[in-house]
Amino acid sequence: MAGQFKRDVCVVGGGGHIGLPLALTFCDVGYDTVIYDINTKTVEQIRRGEMPFSEEGGQEALDRAIVSGRFSVDSEPSKIADCKFIVLVVGTPVDEHLNPSFTAIHKAIDSCAKYLRDGQILILRSTIFPKISAHIQQYVREKGLDVRVAFCPERVAQGYSLTEFRSMPQIISAFDPTTLAEVKALFGRFASEFVEMEPMEAELCKLMTNAWRYLQFATVNQFYMIASHHGLDFNRILHGCRHNYPRMKGMPGPGFAAGPCLVKDTMQLAAFSQGHFVLGHAAMLVNEGLPAHLIELAKREKDLSNLTTGILGAAFKSECDDPRDSLAYKLRKLLSLESKQVLMTDPFVQDEKLVPLEVVMSRADVLFVATPHKAYKELKIPADKLVIDVWNCLGRS
Ligand SMILES: NC(=O)c1ccc[n+]([C@@H]2O[C@H](COP(=O)([O-])OP(=O)(O)OC[C@H]3O[C@@H](n4cnc5c(N)ncnc54)[C@H](O)[C@@H]3O)[C@@H](O)[C@H]2O)c1
Repeated sequence: MAGQFKRDVCVVGGGGHIGLPLALTFCDVGYDTVIYDINTKTVEQIRRGEMPFSEEGGQEALDRAIVSGRFSVDSEPSKIADCKFIVLVVGTPVDEHLNPSFTAIHKAIDSCAKYLRDGQILILRSTIFPKISAHIQQYVREKGLDVRVAFCPERVAQGYSLTEFRSMPQIISAFDPTTLAEVKALFGRFASEFVEMEPMEAELCKLMTNAWRYLQFATVNQFYMIASHHGLDFNRILHGCRHNYPRMKGMPGPGFAAGPCLVKDTMQLAAFSQGHFVLGHAAMLVNEGLPAHLIELAKREKDLSNLTTGILGAAFKSECDDPRDSLAYKLRKLLSLESKQVLMTDPFVQDEKLVPLEVVMSRADVLFVATPHKAYKELKIPADKLVIDVWNCLGRS
């Protein structure tokens, strides 16, 4: 696979939530794999053989990589020069105006530029704004390099990447058929199905996939708000909508829709549509407005001003240790203005401001379920304690 190069693949951003599982998968299927990541703490952790975050099967895959003899981890980019494929999977956030920020991707390319060599293939795996692939292709050509760019977006569910890389169709795109074929061969060692697209189609496909999910969550969250505003139990309505009715099979339940991807990718699409993606903005208003709605529901039942409130869960989704862009933090901020004290707990998230579950359970007068971790389903909560549980995680409705 490496041809004229000593090594097969370097994952730039390979210490991250997507980059690390991908690098471990490349290594597992026999590629000589390099990780380059600027986060020195993560690099050290991976070198010690410790997974920096939770990932199903991740520790075992890292253990295998360490002993494989074909895995190296660096916080400086020089090994890029040895690799046939460079897979770039750095974070691609939106800025304070909710516009895509190109800084991270440019910085990453610039830090690698000195080590790019003719004949390499640069695979963009981050979620990017439409036309960025073409822009990057032009950018490397202007540096006089014969480096071919491909765009192969990542679509896994964080935490389950190692399984999903192998089970989900891979979207692949490039600017010429030879590059497309080489990229297909690279992923073909573990992926079973491919969807070939033009780069800009693939860029939009990825953004639309995430925006679609975000809109679906917003729709059901708005239904929840309408029903609960009128004092109705939305779960009974949801059951009615879905029960043995195939056309509503895909209807999700209500809950916090946030995390590191859905909001920012919806906003990238909104920026691309030059402000005409009204559904995207509406979805953000609904999803981001849910914490305040939950507090209003609690305030109908109790005066919170002299009470302690407790938040169960800080991660952005269940069974996950990642608090990035979690609405639990927004809920905590709002509650800090409304209640005497707010206590938050999470079994997975490392955050010194969190307290043990027992403390929340014994001291909180009102409980909010922010993340539906499985452990909460077993909790014994006195029937007279007010619980605001948008997920129906505790099954009290
Ligand atoms: N997290 C998900 O569930 C998910 C799913 C699909 C797609 N994506 C996309 O994948 C991309 C990465 O997301 P993530 O969640 O893995 O982010 P992350 O922050 O966990 O990982 C990014 C990594 O890149 C490193 N990095 C940043 N700049 C760098 C540079 N110049 N050189 C080398 N390393 C650098 C960081 O240190 C970090 O370890 C984003 O575009 C995201 O939208 C994420």
